[in-house]
Amino acid sequence: MTEVHAGEEAASQSIEQHLYQRLSKVIDPELGRSITDMGMIVSIEAVPRAGASGDATDAYDVVVQVELTVEGCPLSETITNQIKGAVFSYPDAKLTPHIEVSSMSKEKLSNLVEGLKEARRANPFTKKGVKTRIFAIASGKGGVGKSSVTANLAVTFASMGYDTAAIDADIYGFSLPSIFGVHTQPTNLNGMLMPVTAWGVKLMSIGMFTGADRAILWRGPRLQRSLEQFLSDVWWGDPDVLLLDLAPGTGDMAISIAQTLPNAELVVVTTPQPSASDVAVRSGLVALQVPMTVRGVVENMSWFDHQGERLRIFGEGGGERVSQRLTNALHYDVPLLSQLPLQTDMRTTAESGRPAVLNEDGALDSSELAQSFKKLATTLMS
Ligand SMILES: Nc1ncnc2c1ncn2[C@@H]1O[C@H](COP(=O)(O)OP(=O)(O)OP(=O)(O)O)[C@@H](O)[C@H]1O
Ligand SMILES: [Mg+2]
Repeated sequence: MTEVHAGEEAASQSIEQHLYQRLSKVIDPELGRSITDMGMIVSIEAVPRAGASGDATDAYDVVVQVELTVEGCPLSETITNQIKGAVFSYPDAKLTPHIEVSSMSKEKLSNLVEGLKEARRANPFTKKGVKTRIFAIASGKGGVGKSSVTANLAVTFASMGYDTAAIDADIYGFSLPSIFGVHTQPTNLNGMLMPVTAWGVKLMSIGMFTGADRAILWRGPRLQRSLEQFLSDVWWGDPDVLLLDLAPGTGDMAISIAQTLPNAELVVVTTPQPSASDVAVRSGLVALQVPMTVRGVVENMSWFDHQGERLRIFGEGGGERVSQRLTNALHYDVPLLSQLPLQTDMRTTAESGRPAVLNEDGALDSSELAQSFKKLATTLMS
């Protein structure tokens, strides 16, 4: 090898190493892991471009071979753009990226998924020291606004910078996919499901599966099983907050949650009328049977602002009453955390596929409603 060639070789190698380092900081948006750690970068080759005179210049063609987890992966463009960005921003030479994308062999993928599942098992939500705060949103009666509270609270947390996940644990009456406008299916990586991210929240709902897929997920008739599957077979990463939207009622799911996620805290949603608050109390009293903390009460549909007048359409006092009765029964403070107004856009915006506290750009609105949710989120985290 001539000296010139040896020098060129060394320069190419140094570029390749430098780029590999940079690519180790590119994170797969779904898996939340570095693309080099997951073996997605198969090779990087920097080839000097010949100058006009035939001599080498400080310009290089860089071929990066990338293997993605699944073919036609929806996030492939995000990843390739980030790789291109890393190549373009190389400071000491002019690099032209050529990205060659293919998908992993079955064997490589199955090894990767095994590794991820192992990490998931080693770091479940129940492990001591895991930072995830878990709030289960419950109610006695149906239709009081659990799903609306869950969805708006989730996007509020996300907009405050918390890594946020939400599970639609209402397996028969799921509604989070429609409030979040989700029409896609979770990616299934060899039996590991990727949650769908919508409005900044990682979401999982039985409603995202149809036909055969729903049957696969639905291996046992027991609720507990479905919850466990959502917790163990979904790649959640390491969220700061996990919200669970429960089915109405005083029963089974709350017990399953207490067993599966002992650090979950219950938030009881009620409306202001006394008849609703009686059942709401019962939904909180589940904490007498199982070790679970009731974090507080949210009163929804508390008033309707009409021409400057605050109309108490459903009466008043329900939230306060639930708070007092649960405080008495459980012997610790179960505060009334928030009172939320009845307002039409809470429903109409949700029907358009967006939680009402967000504006069209997906930012937290400056509305009073959004402020209430922000205050609620802050209180819950304190
Ligand atoms: N504060 C509010 N103002 C106006 N509409 C609301 C409000 N809260 C909820 N709604 C609407 O009331 C209906 C029921 O709300 P939601 O689905 O959130 O209740 P839920 O308790 O989850 O019901 P389910 O028991 O069926 O799961 C929805 O159409 C929702 O948009
Ligand atoms: Mg609901």
